[in-house]
Amino acid sequence: MNGWPYPRLIAHRGGGSLAPENTLAALKLGASLGYRASEFDVKLSRDAVPFLLHDSKLERTTNGAGIAGEFDWSVLAGLDAGAWHSPAYRGEPLPRLDDVARFITGNGLVANVEIKPTPGFEAVTGRVVARACAELWAGIPVQPLLSSFAYEALVAARDEAPHLPRGWLIETPTETDFDCLEKLGAVSLHCSHRAVTPDLVSRVHEGGRRVMAWTVNDAERAECLLGWGVDGIFTDNLRELAARFRGYL
Ligand code: G3P
Ligand code: MG
Repeated sequence: MNGWPYPRLIAHRGGGSLAPENTLAALKLGASLGYRASEFDVKLSRDAVPFLLHDSKLERTTNGAGIAGEFDWSVLAGLDAGAWHSPAYRGEPLPRLDDVARFITGNGLVANVEIKPTPGFEAVTGRVVARACAELWAGIPVQPLLSSFAYEALVAARDEAPHLPRGWLIETPTETDFDCLEKLGAVSLHCSHRAVTPDLVSRVHEGGRRVMAWTVNDAERAECLLGWGVDGIFTDNLRELAARFRGYL
């Protein structure tokens, strides 16, 4: 269980709730608050450019409409992904994975890249994102942790870039998920914090893997989970958790 290179506190979607999720502005804000680690969601444009967006559709977090993966990057690049959050972020664009990777590696930060395929594009997304990560992080001491709810995406990522660590994402783990961890050669289980128990943490640790819990916004709950030995906590509540658990940043 030695050699885990990721901090225990991780900024969810870059900057939690303080900035528009999955943007460079969010990542910069998270870093300015002391977060060395961030999680963000990556999918493909129609012309296979990896970029950051949580939803399959554009409506909630951009001024566009429709399925993001049905547009070429040249169209997506012109959208506003900040105005929905607050006027200060008006004009903030959707970021490409390569721009984000340059910010992270250039500032000595680390990443959990969640592969979030448009439904139906699981394998190609896993393959393209893993290849991009392998190239963008080549020679960097801490490689990005790839995670996904999409099993096929992680299989493709494993086949494309076996050296990149993988995490299996699931809301509430069942017996089958322990098989998935084995088959994927995953280093970590990422689940809802509501599903975490001391027994789960022990079992995952006994298998030589780590437990990551999302999304933990309550400081008391974070204290409890960290006390049980949870290895990573994704939070939207950046300021409060950073102040309370500064040693875990
Ligand atoms: O990767 C942890 C967490 O981000 C998973 O849920 O929906 O926020 O991507 P979601
Ligand atoms: Mg995510």
